[in-house]
Formats: sequence, structure tokens, C-alpha cells
Amino acid sequence: MTSKAESFDAVADAHDHARWDLPPARFDAAVLAALSRFAGRGGGPALFLGSGSGREAAAFVRAGRQVVLVDISARMLSLAKARYHDSPLVDYRRQSATEFLDDADADYPFISAVGELLGYVRDHAALLTRIRTRLGDSGTCVFTWVDAHRLAQRGLPAQVCADGTAIFTERDEPPLRIRGWSQAHMHALLGTAGLDLVEEIAPEAVSPRRGWTVTPSRTSDGSNPAG
Ligand SMILES: C[S@@+](CC[C@H](N)C(=O)[O-])C[C@H]1O[C@@H](n2cnc3c(N)ncnc32)[C@H](O)[C@@H]1O
Repeated sequence: MTSKAESFDAVADAHDHARWDLPPARFDAAVLAALSRFAGRGGGPALFLGSGSGREAAAFVRAGRQVVLVDISARMLSLAKARYHDSPLVDYRRQSATEFLDDADADYPFISAVGELLGYVRDHAALLTRIRTRLGDSGTCVFTWVDAHRLAQRGLPAQVCADGTAIFTERDEPPLRIRGWSQAHMHALLGTAGLDLVEEIAPEAVSPRRGWTVTPSRTSDGSNPAG
């Protein structure tokens, strides 16, 4: 049976080429622009979960920021190494995002989970909660996710489960499936994780994806209920 890492290894070269060598589609361009706004802000390493070959970290590296790229695919990370020419600013970790966050003993002022990582992991709610834990009190996370309603609107065939989760088959061989949810579900997850939505990236974009910028929740007196 093909492992998930092998499925991503198989698409890594095409993905790397599309990300680094071709102009980004409108939604991706908006996400990259949103990320670049955080590149020069604050100190400390920025963490890129499900980084692929690392295109979204480029503005941070250009700004002289340390970055950590975490991905399960060895091929994606070797392509990232080639793109960053062994820059000392880049740390590569071949590991699942969940394991990485469980083992981490430091907070990160910026965390990216762009590329719909939540849709690929077994427990997206648990991943979001772990991300919250590693943001400290003042970090920011940008993540993208698949909106089940937008999938249906665009006539993209998905299997819809009893709980409303939509499963979209990206490829049959090797198998690659991604999960999507309703906006209501994702808002509820943010609440459970202790995160506030501060910006929707390109809300009008013609894409089944959504991009959200989130920060740790603050109560009206300014304290952090989850911290
Ligand atoms: C669609 S690609 C996106 C890559 C990159 N973030 C981008 O937007 O171009 C999803 C990436 O998530 C990685 N991935 C999937 N499940 C993962 C997990 N549990 N932990 C870490 N990385 C994972 C895959 O190997 C792949 O590189």
C-alpha cells in the first residue's frame, strides 16, 4: 500500500515546478502576499508545516529570517534544499506536523499551514489545537483549507460524510484525498482551539480554498483564555 508520504513524493516535482517556476494563480498570489507581510515582522524562527518544497517561506528567507520546513515527503524537502541552496537560515524536518508540534519545546511567532495541510491529516482539530499551543500569546498563523460548499458550487465531485466532511479525490494512483468542511465547522474549531479569525485572504477568489489568518483568542479584558 502506498503511504501518504509516497503519494506526495510522486507529485513533488510537478508541485515544485508549479509553485516556483510558474506565475501563481490568483488565490495563491493572495496567500503569498499575505505571508510576505509577516516575513519581516518580529524575531524568532517561522514555522512552515506541510511546507512542500518551501515556496511560501521564500519571503522570510529573503528577509533574513530563520525558517523551519516540516514535511512528511522526503522528495518535497530535497527539492526545497535545492531551491534554498543549503541556506543556513533553513532547517528541514521530515516529520508529521502533529509529531513535530508534540515534540517542540519552543513557541513560534509565525506558523504557516498553507497548502491545505489540515485536509490531509487524520485529526485536523487536534492539529489546530497544537498550532495554537505553539503560537504562544502573540503569534500569528496563516492556514488554508478546502470549503466543502465551494467544492459543491464548482461541481467538484466529493463524497460527503454524515458529519458534513467532504472528501475530494485529487488522484487515484497513487491515492491522494483531501478533506473539506463548512465554514460553520471551521469557526467552531477555531473557538475550541482558542483562536480568533483576524483576516480572510482573498474571500472573493475563484477557488474552493479559503485562507485564514488567526491569532490566539483574547477576552474583552485583553487576557488570553487559552494561555
Ligand atoms: C498540497 S502540498 C502543499 C505544499 C506547500 N505548502 C504549498 O502550498 O505549495 C501539501 C504538503 O503537505 C505535506 N503533508 C501532508 N500531510 C502531512 C503531515 N501529516 N505532516 C506534514 N506534512 C504533511 C505533503 O507532503 C505536501 O508537501
